[in-house]
Amino acid sequence: MCGIVGYIGERQAKPILLNCLARLEYRGYDSCGIAVAGGKLQVHKDAVRVGVLKEKLPRRLEGKIGIGHTRWATHGGPTKANAHPHCDCTGKITVVHNGIIYNFQQLHQQLIEEGHTFTSETDTEVIPHLIEKYFTGDLEEAVARALAEMEGSYAIAVLMEGRPELIAARKDSPLIIGIGDGENFIASDVPAVLDHTSRVVYLEDGDIAVVRKEGFQVKRKGKVVDRQPHQVTWSVGDAQKGGYEHFMLKEIHEQPKVIRDTIRAYLTADEADSNRDIFTEGGEREILILACGTSYHAALVGKYVLEQLFRVPVRTEIASEFGFLGQTSARSQAVVITQSGETADALKAIKKLRSEGCPVTVITNVIGSSATRLADQVLCTQAGPEISVAATKSYTAQLMALYWMALPLARIDLRRKDSLIAELRQLPGRVQRILDDEEKIAQHAAQIAKYDHVFFIGRGINYPVALEGALKLKEISYIHAEGYAAGELKHGPFALLSSEAPVVAIVAPDNTYDAMLTSIKEVKARNSPVLALVEEGDEVIEEVADSVIVVPKVEPLFSPVVNTVVLQLLAYYAAKERGCPIDFPRNLAKSVTVE
Ligand code: AGP
Repeated sequence: MCGIVGYIGERQAKPILLNCLARLEYRGYDSCGIAVAGGKLQVHKDAVRVGVLKEKLPRRLEGKIGIGHTRWATHGGPTKANAHPHCDCTGKITVVHNGIIYNFQQLHQQLIEEGHTFTSETDTEVIPHLIEKYFTGDLEEAVARALAEMEGSYAIAVLMEGRPELIAARKDSPLIIGIGDGENFIASDVPAVLDHTSRVVYLEDGDIAVVRKEGFQVKRKGKVVDRQPHQVTWSVGDAQKGGYEHFMLKEIHEQPKVIRDTIRAYLTADEADSNRDIFTEGGEREILILACGTSYHAALVGKYVLEQLFRVPVRTEIASEFGFLGQTSARSQAVVITQSGETADALKAIKKLRSEGCPVTVITNVIGSSATRLADQVLCTQAGPEISVAATKSYTAQLMALYWMALPLARIDLRRKDSLIAELRQLPGRVQRILDDEEKIAQHAAQIAKYDHVFFIGRGINYPVALEGALKLKEISYIHAEGYAAGELKHGPFALLSSEAPVVAIVAPDNTYDAMLTSIKEVKARNSPVLALVEEGDEVIEEVADSVIVVPKVEPLFSPVVNTVVLQLLAYYAAKERGCPIDFPRNLAKSVTVE
């Protein structure tokens, strides 16, 4: 998705802007650009990677104030003309923008009638023209008047030739100010500024900030408001590859630590008894869990866990569908899972839930994200920054959060509860054993990489694992993959089974085991090669499947953790075998901030 950066200070802006933009590359983009004001404002942009733009820039592009952008096309294709920054008619006011302006057609038409000329197909371009229209000497005021005309979502940074300030504003799209010493930054994401500062201010919806080199001031509806700085605990190293070939592999390998950190954070002093107020006690209730993509697969595991342990009905909804179908009642309590805390579909669902009086707990990995500000309660996962577009460690951290939610109120006997907590503590070691043996998984992946279609099947708590395995494989290796509840294959997908369509079967030693064995036999009878994930010690499946990956023994409730780690590695090595750009798959973005 689009990324914004801005700099004002005593240093040359060009290298700083390029460095900050490079830190945002992981979000996915198709074009980029910067504007720097020395004496004169200069804009350079193109439909290229940041590294290529850097090579194309004039050596003498000097100035100590500037803005930059990585664009992920929404209105208009990925072209040089559509890349940001965009300028007004005079070429003195320039803007970078994340979000979508819903009434841009109308504003565009109106501005044309007033004599403005446009050079791109973007909605963004109306912003500098609106600012130009309202500018009478006070840039902040002109921006405020322009924003008042706009419907939709935005995070913007504005630079005007000859002015000693940047203007930043946000509504439904994240924006921060990075606080330096005699210099300040603007960015849509914290990692953008981590090389320069770890003190940040999270702007809130409706905020307009004037950022100067010596400080900043935030106003809301014309009144000055106090926005306290936060100390970011992530380091630059956390957001770098640390010797791994890809962020995805690094993040897969961080999972034992993520689980350990989560257990330490959640299960301290009172063991699992410290979160009694996540769900209200007593009376009839319904838990509703909403999310998108991988987070939705975590929600599906969460449904199973909460229903098993907590014994209340749990409904899961795809967040983007909730606006069309979703119903709540006075009994509903919602949990919204979003790694980034910025997914537009998830934010829209939270707003709808809140407007219907439904209390919302958000599970997110990003403190200060938009979701945390909209929620009644926040449960922060301990995954650290996730850079790879493919979610891995954040998913595992979400599962840990869901286990932690379920355990305190679990309606199970104390001995079982203690044993589950003890099992949780063993999980980092179990996951580490999978990672230590990744070479074997890479060999299986090399086989999978030869096919164009792969099915994943599971049952019970491992059905969502099949969905996640398929999503991971398709998004990074571009192999067509489908996840199915094993029993559903015979209701249609059987037609596609052949020696050219392998099936990955996730088998757990729980009440689904016999049915999975039957499913594997049925698949084998249709000539599909079967790769089965089985628990150590299992000899029955080995007899039937073509090949197996042996997974460490864990409590079945926690089997989604170990099985998913195996499937993450399978996807990773299949994508590597096919030479895919693993961390930045085509057409995808890390946080999807548009509907
Ligand atoms: C998964 O690998 C994807 N990156 C994607 O499905 C992601 O999980 C989804 O877009 C939801 O993101 P969120 O958790 O940040 O809301």
